[in-house]
Amino acid sequence: MSKTSHIVPQTYQITKSDHFRLNGHKPCIVWFTGLSGSGKSTLANAVEQKLFEKGVHTYVLDGDNVRHGLNNNVDFTPEGRTENIRRIGEVAKLFVNAGIVVLTAFISPFRADRNRARDLVENDEFIEIFVDCPIAICEQRDVKGLYKKARAGEIADFTGINSPFETPEHPELIVRTAEMSMDHSVKMVTDFIINKIFVNK
Ligand code: ADX
Repeated sequence: MSKTSHIVPQTYQITKSDHFRLNGHKPCIVWFTGLSGSGKSTLANAVEQKLFEKGVHTYVLDGDNVRHGLNNNVDFTPEGRTENIRRIGEVAKLFVNAGIVVLTAFISPFRADRNRARDLVENDEFIEIFVDCPIAICEQRDVKGLYKKARAGEIADFTGINSPFETPEHPELIVRTAEMSMDHSVKMVTDFIINKIFVNK
């Protein structure tokens, strides 16, 4: 018997469309995926600022932060990452139900895990953004000094070194942070989101 067999979902009085009317924009998940150091968090935060200035209700979920709280009991094994992303998908869906544009910045290296998150919401509510940056550049940046440690054998299962990253097959956007300026990248992503969420207005 499943753990949820005796749980009957409640219906809410205030629905997603009520939030839409109140907020003046649609909600969505903006899912950034890419290697550590590719620029996911920087991009997500800069895009959030732009959206905020336009009156959009936003929230950023970031791997390094969420792994200190809600997900402080999952590791970096394939199983740990799958559970990490499963929870983030579910939390992001709750934000969508609350009418919010939620930006998630997680490596999310496995295609199947990202697709499972995509399937939790409507088709037009999931924007997958591949933050594409060659590992050599991420490693050169090495903002947190983790690549150095991973090369020295001090970190097991490090993405790109001894753990895989599965490139997205059909992302809504690809942002090449090594080739494009941050301002340009932020504008490209922000414009894409704005076009999606201000429909029927
Ligand atoms: S994910 O693969 O499960 O999506 P997540 O985005 O939550 O990863 O966390 C990645 C961050 O954790 C990296 O930016 C890095 O700072 C840190 N980290 C620590 N250990 C590892 C590891 N083995 N592989 C990748 N990132 C790691």
